[in-house]
Amino acid sequence: MSKNVEMENIMMADYLDRIGEGLILVSKEPLSYDWTPPELIGRAEELREMASMFLGIENHNVSCKAVVTGNVGSGKTVLTRRFCMDVSAKLEGRRKVSIAHVNCRNHPSSSQVLQQIALSLDSGHPERGFSSAEVIQNIRRNLRHHESHLLLILDEVDVLVRRDSSDLIYKLLRIDEDQEGDGSLSLILVSQDESLFTLFEKAIKSRLGASNSIQLGPYAAIDLEGIARQRYDASCRPGAISDEVLAKIGVFAEESGGDARMAIELLDNSIRRAEMKGREKVLEEDVLPSEVHSPSIEPSQIDKLNFHQRMVLLGICRRLKKEEEISSGDARKLYELVCEENNEEARGYTTFWKYLKHLESQGLIVSRASSSHRGRGRTQYITMPNSIPAVIGDRVEKGLFGG
Ligand SMILES: Nc1ncnc2c1ncn2[C@@H]1O[C@H](COP(=O)(O)OP(=O)(O)O)[C@@H](O)[C@H]1O
Ligand SMILES: [Mg+2]
Repeated sequence: MSKNVEMENIMMADYLDRIGEGLILVSKEPLSYDWTPPELIGRAEELREMASMFLGIENHNVSCKAVVTGNVGSGKTVLTRRFCMDVSAKLEGRRKVSIAHVNCRNHPSSSQVLQQIALSLDSGHPERGFSSAEVIQNIRRNLRHHESHLLLILDEVDVLVRRDSSDLIYKLLRIDEDQEGDGSLSLILVSQDESLFTLFEKAIKSRLGASNSIQLGPYAAIDLEGIARQRYDASCRPGAISDEVLAKIGVFAEESGGDARMAIELLDNSIRRAEMKGREKVLEEDVLPSEVHSPSIEPSQIDKLNFHQRMVLLGICRRLKKEEEISSGDARKLYELVCEENNEEARGYTTFWKYLKHLESQGLIVSRASSSHRGRGRTQYITMPNSIPAVIGDRVEKGLFGG
């Protein structure tokens, strides 16, 4: 083999080694909000409190309850998930545990929530043909048949209660009443809404127990720095990010209200910026405070939009990156453009207006009617509240193009 060919072979191998990797990033997954870290930062006391609400859980006839509240990004979802996984691991060999986590924002009706629970226990659970009472009995039968205890997290539960009352929660709390045997399920209710308790009737309040409630406060800079460090350690080449950069992320995220999502987003964006400039290190200048916005949006709000609603939103975001507001006519044109880019046919005007109304009802855009009444058509001007179009647009694009 000639020297040149050998060289080329080595270069080829090197190149293949780095497929899917960046100058800094080795694995993207830990930068996603859905990644559950192996351990939580700065929540030891809260976890101990949770554990005290689950005293006796190793006994087969015991059911426990907990209510967790806190602002967006205070770690409610990750704390309850981590807690259930840790409990399940701790009980191994003593009590069999199944975990179901249902986000009620994505499944806002009682029957949808029940369906999600049934599916998590039995992926072949039929979608139709059963009343709520029957599905609850199916769930109970399944659990008892497998001698399993269900740890059920109802996340964003206020969305369900506001829509469908607290009837389902009452029924779940009474799942073992008038039946043979106890301890079928433990219930963890999660909500941003501090006043969740006021939505419940007395019978539910007393069953939940007033002391089984915990409120997560905002994170301090040091915790947010730790959260950024944990994700960096799991996703980047060692040495790519200095302590100073992580500290800066912590401080900015604290200033934005102590939202853990902000720390992750600042980290993600700073890595991308450094890589785009061809660097193997993130510098302090890559962390931009202008990206801090508050409060941050629920990512599930965007995940839930249909394809065309996302394209409408994307068109609007692109313009609002550069301008304060956009007219509905321009929003329509940009929507058509985005459709064209995606080889999709734009929907008609009436549907387009419905999409705008929907985005507004979700709090993603704000519109005002035009003050002048020239022409016959309706013109509105659209802006975005408390969210940076670039950030939202980014998230939509990531979803659309599978980034
Ligand atoms: N204490 C923590 N340690 C590590 N990561 C955290 C912590 N708190 C939050 N996170 C991460 O921050 C993001 C937002 O947290 P999340 O649980 O979704 O907040 P919430 O449900 O309160 O809006 C998630 O990606 C989560 O993994
Ligand atoms: Mg959450």
